[in-house]
Amino acid sequence: MPCTVIAGAFWGDEGKGKIISYMALKDKLDVCVRTGSVNAAHTVWYNGNRYALHMVPAAFVYEKCRLLIGAGSNVEVKQFLEEVELTNVKSRMGVDSQASIIEEKHAAQDKASMHLKQIVGTTGRGVGPAIEERVRRTAKLAKDIPELKPYLADASEEVNNAIDKDKKVLLEGTQGLLLSLFHGTYPYVTGRDTSAAAICSEAGVSPTKVDEVLIVFKSFMTRVGAGPFPGEITKEEAIKRGWFETAAGTGRDRRSAPFNFELAKKAVKINGATQAAVTKFDILFPECKGARNFEDLAKEAKQFITEIEKQTRVPVVLIGTGPEALDIIDRRK
Ligand code: IMP
Ligand code: MG
Repeated sequence: MPCTVIAGAFWGDEGKGKIISYMALKDKLDVCVRTGSVNAAHTVWYNGNRYALHMVPAAFVYEKCRLLIGAGSNVEVKQFLEEVELTNVKSRMGVDSQASIIEEKHAAQDKASMHLKQIVGTTGRGVGPAIEERVRRTAKLAKDIPELKPYLADASEEVNNAIDKDKKVLLEGTQGLLLSLFHGTYPYVTGRDTSAAAICSEAGVSPTKVDEVLIVFKSFMTRVGAGPFPGEITKEEAIKRGWFETAAGTGRDRRSAPFNFELAKKAVKINGATQAAVTKFDILFPECKGARNFEDLAKEAKQFITEIEKQTRVPVVLIGTGPEALDIIDRRK
């Protein structure tokens, strides 16, 4: 464990929130650093409550975990403060002083842009325009915002010290490889690189300090917004198969398609994945719902996992069998 990066394989919404919440509780994480921004929603189900988190790290469910937002992230102050309140994490939440700020004008620019909103199909949360402003070097940073004063931290200093002391650290990636500005389906991508290397960079952690890169696959693929999507099925077919979803953040319909091994291999390669998780396994194999042991799975369900391992050459260590944080098969030693 000591330092694990969690990266999404496809177009986001693979269920990273669920995997992170499980690891937080099971592994008793010491530190979790969230990267990315408010365009991503990480869904966590815990004790019957559902949280769709845009800012607070999904590891909040473990009450001793220090929660950080990295210097490469973009903070939407109102959303951040609301989530801190909702999850009651004020005393253990830190924001890097150099994280940049999304202002209302950025969301307005995002929504008013024909290219961004109509063609790319952004979430409209202003992340692209906020990053543009940061690149122009005129963006406000967390240290400029009075409401963030109680939270200001040096996230890279803290996280590197934690790693050096062999504490359990998790770097929380957002979205998936195919939404990467560099490696995804440009121009139908988000405004940043989403690969494991970029997650490290946003958190201020060197690749030499990472022990595991855990890639998260969903049992089928989904995508919101425009852009190519191999194997896409109709909404009617998706409903029939139980795959139809709406976005946790924006409520938009998600498009769906079967698991794609070629794309999975690409995501494994660029992320340098050492471990994999497969989520929503109970949607593909309903008889698996709530299973906690690999041995209890039906033959074809086991075969699907074996096929992923064979083709990607990465061990599938976690298999999600229901929405709650603890609905999982854990095959780690
Ligand atoms: P933006 O990141 O809001 O600029 O949106 C760019 C593209 O990325 C659009 O296709 C969005 O639907 C997609 N996107 C951004 N964040 C997420 C996410 O967390 N899950 C799924 N799609 C996302
Ligand atoms: Mg999501």
